[in-house]
Amino acid sequence: MSDVPEVLFVCVHNAGRSQMAAGLLDHYAQGRVHVRSAGSAPVDQINPAVVTVMEEVGVDLTKEFPKPLTDEVARAADVIVTMGCGDACPVYPGKRYLDWVLVDPAGRGVEDVRTIRDDIDQRVRALLAEFVLATASPMADRAAIEEAVRAHYADAARRATGGCGDTAEAGIGAGCYDPADVEGLPAAAVASSIGCANPVVVAELAEGEVVLDLGSGGGIDVLLSARRVGASGRAYGLDMTDEMLALARTHQAEAGITNAEFLKGHMEAVPLPNASVDVVLSNCVIALAVDKGRVFSEAFRVLRPGGRLAIADVVADDDHSSDPADAASWVACVSGALTESGYRAALATAGFTETAIEFSHAVMDGFTSVIVRASKRR
Ligand SMILES: C[S@@+](CC[C@H](N)C(=O)[O-])C[C@H]1O[C@@H](n2cnc3c(N)ncnc32)[C@H](O)[C@@H]1O
Repeated sequence: MSDVPEVLFVCVHNAGRSQMAAGLLDHYAQGRVHVRSAGSAPVDQINPAVVTVMEEVGVDLTKEFPKPLTDEVARAADVIVTMGCGDACPVYPGKRYLDWVLVDPAGRGVEDVRTIRDDIDQRVRALLAEFVLATASPMADRAAIEEAVRAHYADAARRATGGCGDTAEAGIGAGCYDPADVEGLPAAAVASSIGCANPVVVAELAEGEVVLDLGSGGGIDVLLSARRVGASGRAYGLDMTDEMLALARTHQAEAGITNAEFLKGHMEAVPLPNASVDVVLSNCVIALAVDKGRVFSEAFRVLRPGGRLAIADVVADDDHSSDPADAASWVACVSGALTESGYRAALATAGFTETAIEFSHAVMDGFTSVIVRASKRR
């Protein structure tokens, strides 16, 4: 994404929803985001009720007019937010897509349009909060942070291979698992766990389901998931670190589990097709991602409608202070941790609903392990 991200809002007429979203984002962003809107079948003028309700919140749309959706405008965007443009919605590789299901203000009175404006307002604020967060560290820092994360976990994998994996303290690594749950798994697979809870229990997996574990590490949650979904299901683990993938594949071979597969890749660009997964898991990994918005968008994309998210992660207290450029505290899931409200906003922006965040145990002063559940609407 460019330094100043470009967002394109697209609906059919460019007379209501997309104009309100563009007006609000431009108003709040104060130059931090480039904003455009367009319609797949633009009409002659903006809905007058829309102009009225936007005036009420200090956004002047009187000089705006509906514009056609062109190839050029779509290509220039980093993020394309569609709102009911149907088959005419633009699809270009490498863009981030969000689809906001909104009531169409066409033919409605001021009162109804005001409610639609408020719905759009909440989504726009969440989207902006995410951009501000994602651009908090400059690109150079982001690449350095990712390399620090990779190097740290490559080293952790090497130590686990050498038989000196993390300890089984309660609430950390192997200590998160009930011994009955991990019975029959290779001891080395259990010892190599560096998560902060047991997301497999949270996910309540059923026979035949397809599961994806983001940042699968030594593979414990993938192997447990594979056992739960049985021969008719499948469990994928995704990790960017070669050493972790090698360790996980060794544990899989030792366990004799055949309905699991470890994929190399980034959780910001998941190498699986749209709507191919029933459950996305993750155990103490999202806090490590530099672009969490993209991670949640990818999780949403690969989930089937009705699919669910079951994540263990770390969140920061609202008043925490940590340096986002400090790689050492980033790799320990601290500097990159979202606050609870940041987590909710990022999930809502990606399209998730029914979000529930349950606080579990303190991991250090100002940071708490949480269980996050959310759904993709049917
Ligand atoms: C704290 S460990 C957790 C591993 C595992 N979930 C567990 O519970 O043991 C974090 C893992 O996420 C991987 N990881 C970190 N950032 C990633 C990213 N952006 N994409 C894919 N994998 C990532 C690391 O390589 C590492 O294996």
